[in-house]
Amino acid sequence: MIHQRLAKFFSSDVGIDLGTANCLVYVKDKGIVLSEPSVVAIDALTKEVIAVGKEAYRMLDRCPLNIKAIRPMKCGVIADFDITGEMLRYFITKAKMLMSPRHRLVKPRVLVAVPSGITEVETRAVQDSAERAGAREVRLIEEPMSAAIGSGLPVAEPCGNMIVDIGGGTTEVAVISLAGIVEAKSCRVGGDEMNQAIIQHMKRVYNLLIGEPKAEKIKIEIGSAYQLSDEEVEMDVGGRDLVSGLPKSIKVSSREIRTALQEPVTSILEAIRSTLERCPPELASDLIDRGIMLAGGGALLKGLKELIAEEMDLPVNVAEDPLKAVANGTGVVLQNMDTMSRNLTAG
Ligand SMILES: Nc1ncnc2c1ncn2[C@@H]1O[C@H](COP(=O)(O)OP(=O)(O)OP(=O)(O)O)[C@@H](O)[C@H]1O
Ligand SMILES: [Mg+2]
Repeated sequence: MIHQRLAKFFSSDVGIDLGTANCLVYVKDKGIVLSEPSVVAIDALTKEVIAVGKEAYRMLDRCPLNIKAIRPMKCGVIADFDITGEMLRYFITKAKMLMSPRHRLVKPRVLVAVPSGITEVETRAVQDSAERAGAREVRLIEEPMSAAIGSGLPVAEPCGNMIVDIGGGTTEVAVISLAGIVEAKSCRVGGDEMNQAIIQHMKRVYNLLIGEPKAEKIKIEIGSAYQLSDEEVEMDVGGRDLVSGLPKSIKVSSREIRTALQEPVTSILEAIRSTLERCPPELASDLIDRGIMLAGGGALLKGLKELIAEEMDLPVNVAEDPLKAVANGTGVVLQNMDTMSRNLTAG
């Protein structure tokens, strides 16, 4: 008991949103202290880690042959266990550096937000990685639950709350009531698929090869899911001509990017629709007033909120800071660990 109290005094709890695109770290009583891309650069020969996070992102698609920049998480799951472990270690170590010297003395308790469809093997991998990275105790929370809490939804009440978390690799749809997930659907379509759709479009229509960072820039700057005004905009895009092999720049319009994004956007709509169809009637009727909450970076796609509202005929809100919703959710749980532990899976 005394041992536990001392550990509490000398350590700090850490919440991690282990995302496909971004990793966010929340330190109890401090808030979000880190937010960096989930990218690791390694030496292709020795497999030694050269850079993690922001620094490694800059190397993505711009590496010399001896360096490989990789995303160890794909489609919301761990594609490379060892590199994910290295990444977790980097984030936990960096978070510890930001703590006061007293709080650095004892290993932290770590709460990791993981996709709801995660397999037993992946669960083990996350737990092992976090332990190897210096966690004293590891607990897991399902991403949609954390996103709902972080978006301020009253998840503990006996009423239906719907959260749609559109991340880089996955879209997670869940209906939550009485602190439990009643219906959920996870589909492996998110911001990455949108980027791929743009890359394919540029290839097919213009014979232009572009990298993923460029596709993401196009999506964020002129991408949309719904026509919001009469004004369509254009953007200059540079890449490599597939025929001549030389650098080339062309102009693309927001209208054609919207068409290119139609397929991934439709998959997201289908995931929402099928969850609504399976939702118990009492909870479904709650949603008529309470509507749907969008979180995750994909929620920032222009016009997506309007499109979902029109297609589902329900009110739609976007979380105050959608990219931070999951991490903020882990923060709320850390601050109330004793009362909220029902939502957690022990490590
Ligand atoms: N303004 C924007 N418009 C459209 N998409 C955006 C915008 N800002 C960020 N995104 C996209 O959001 C995605 C990242 O969101 P987020 O950080 O929530 O994902 P993640 O949690 O890492 O992934 P996952 O939950 O699938 O593991 C990226 O695909 C990014 O391109
Ligand atoms: Mg996420």
